[in-house]
Amino acid sequence: MEEKDLVVLLNEKRVFKPSKKLVENSNVMKWMKKKKIKSYDELLKKAEDIEWFWNEAAKETVKWKKPFKKILEQENNYSKWFNGAKYNIVFDALDKHKNKTKTAFIWEGEPEKEVRKISFKQLYQEVNKLANAMKKLGIKKGDRIGIYLPMIPELPVAMLASAKIGAIHSVVFSGFSALAFRERVNDEAAKLVITCDGFYRRGKIIPLKKAADEALMETPSVEKCIVIKRTAGEKVDWNEKRDLWYHEIIKKEKPECKTELMEANDPLFILYTSGTTGKPKGIIHDHGGYAVGTAITLKWVFDLKDKDIWWCAADIGWITGHSYIVYAPLILGVTSVMYEGSPDFPNPDRWWEIIDKHKVTVLYTSPTAIRMFMHFGEEWIEKHSLKSLRLLGSVGEPINPEAWMWYYKFIGKEKCQIMDTWWQTETGNHCITPLPITDLKPGSATKPFPGIQAKVLNKEGKEIINAGGELVLLKPWPGMLKGIYKNPEKYQKTYWEMYPEIYLAGDVARVDSDGYFWVQGRDSDVLKVSGHRIGNSEIESALVSHPLVAEAAAIGKPHEIKGESITAFVILKKGTEISENLRKELIEHVGKEIGKLARPDEILFVEDLPKTRSGKIMRRVIKAKVLGQDTGNISTLSNPEAVEELLKAK
Ligand code: PRX
Repeated sequence: MEEKDLVVLLNEKRVFKPSKKLVENSNVMKWMKKKKIKSYDELLKKAEDIEWFWNEAAKETVKWKKPFKKILEQENNYSKWFNGAKYNIVFDALDKHKNKTKTAFIWEGEPEKEVRKISFKQLYQEVNKLANAMKKLGIKKGDRIGIYLPMIPELPVAMLASAKIGAIHSVVFSGFSALAFRERVNDEAAKLVITCDGFYRRGKIIPLKKAADEALMETPSVEKCIVIKRTAGEKVDWNEKRDLWYHEIIKKEKPECKTELMEANDPLFILYTSGTTGKPKGIIHDHGGYAVGTAITLKWVFDLKDKDIWWCAADIGWITGHSYIVYAPLILGVTSVMYEGSPDFPNPDRWWEIIDKHKVTVLYTSPTAIRMFMHFGEEWIEKHSLKSLRLLGSVGEPINPEAWMWYYKFIGKEKCQIMDTWWQTETGNHCITPLPITDLKPGSATKPFPGIQAKVLNKEGKEIINAGGELVLLKPWPGMLKGIYKNPEKYQKTYWEMYPEIYLAGDVARVDSDGYFWVQGRDSDVLKVSGHRIGNSEIESALVSHPLVAEAAAIGKPHEIKGESITAFVILKKGTEISENLRKELIEHVGKEIGKLARPDEILFVEDLPKTRSGKIMRRVIKAKVLGQDTGNISTLSNPEAVEELLKAK
């Protein structure tokens, strides 16, 4: 047995059991007792009746305005849950809390003195004012709203105001470039854009309005742009016909606004994510199923109770933030921490300071962040007590057992279970995840959430255990995507073509003999850099859009902190001279096209790239060669000699 296999085996055998107290007091156990379900296995078994289970989950989390006619209808790989129910997620996330003085968000600005506490009541009123203002601008049910905002409280306000009047929000991560924002706004034909003057990142102001202005130079559908004043005096250019200050337009509005009565299946938002082609796809989520899926998972996986202080340290620009900073915590009526800035500003213990200051009880973050903190060293943690923490979470990429153990020991002080949650933009909510009653194995996301049926299949569609294969979900679930915006062909091709009527996640995973899932990562078409999902082809098309680049191939290399780093092989146009300046220029070019997160760590110039006879660049072969792995049979390539040449790249 190789040493590597031995380590895997040891990890599989190492089990961390939850304390009796955690199990007994957990929300899921209380529910199981009510339903006379005696064990975790029995719960999973019973929940195989998905219609029964998800209806129970709905009863635990939402209140339909009018009951559904049919719990599940399926057609052509589209699933309609709770069909016929009249609903709007805002009833549960906002309206039912309208008189509560409890804090909804504790917001920490990056400049340390800036803290805002927003009660559920204040949030309700602020949302209503904006919703009224949006109506006056002519926004109606079904209109798309492009939101380009950093981590400030006005971001959830903008999302909820859109949802309230039945409009569809589409948040674009504030770290994306002007061009990436423009591409998304044009794809969805947004009528209104909401942005801000700027925000703080590592002590500097990032001028977001400037990027929005650049994006809006070529967006014919956009009529108005609402601008939030976040900074003290960042100067902005002003388009009198288009731009409106947020504080001015809401000033005159009433703090009451009728919530639009929607169908449970009506779209709530579009969120763009990377896939196998150069163009990101607009994933659609709805009001009803999404509300049930996010709220029940947060309630059971992170076991949130009325007194908890929850901190999901993701950015709202990604699905994690949509589901677990905005919608689910609000539905559950829990207090959330929201932080604007960089984790290491002004010092690497900023997070630990925030946890002690606000007595955070449950923390949810990514393996990249954990590895970064490991790298800073324990001395930054030892200055703080962290004793308020009772549960921890991880999301976005596989967590290596070393990082898991470090998180457990130094942050959780060996008393907090770690919920390693596997899910996707498309799934809407956690799908493979422990519950507080689950025995944990470091590095494994453990078992499917009740009502989710996951398997690992081989290429022929046969279930396999103890070997890597395709991760699939066999049955629909309420939080699942409701389609790809204006692209039904891509929806069918991406998720339903490989195995008919089975959802293909696009991840490689393995199930061990105890039924535990070990997700290994994306298949070869998508990179995960610091937990951010970036299509290889997005980076390649950005490179090829540079006038001096003829062809490009982007691959991911394992990276100690970020999970993966980006290496791009570039063929320059004939006669172009290689230079260090050009290398830097290309890196910056990708930053401008997509955003800083997609900038290659390394650009290597080559004369040729291995291709199939039909001319497709073989990324898999390139990656294997670069990592010193077996490249497989390359004799069928049109230019097998290009494989060896890769090692001579400059
Ligand atoms: O590859 C899996 C990885 O992240 C992908 C989904 O990315 P995105 O849509 O950006 O959503 C991230 C936040 C939910 C998955 O296909 N992934 C996510 N969580 C885990 C994970 N890989 C391993 N373990 C996880 N816990």
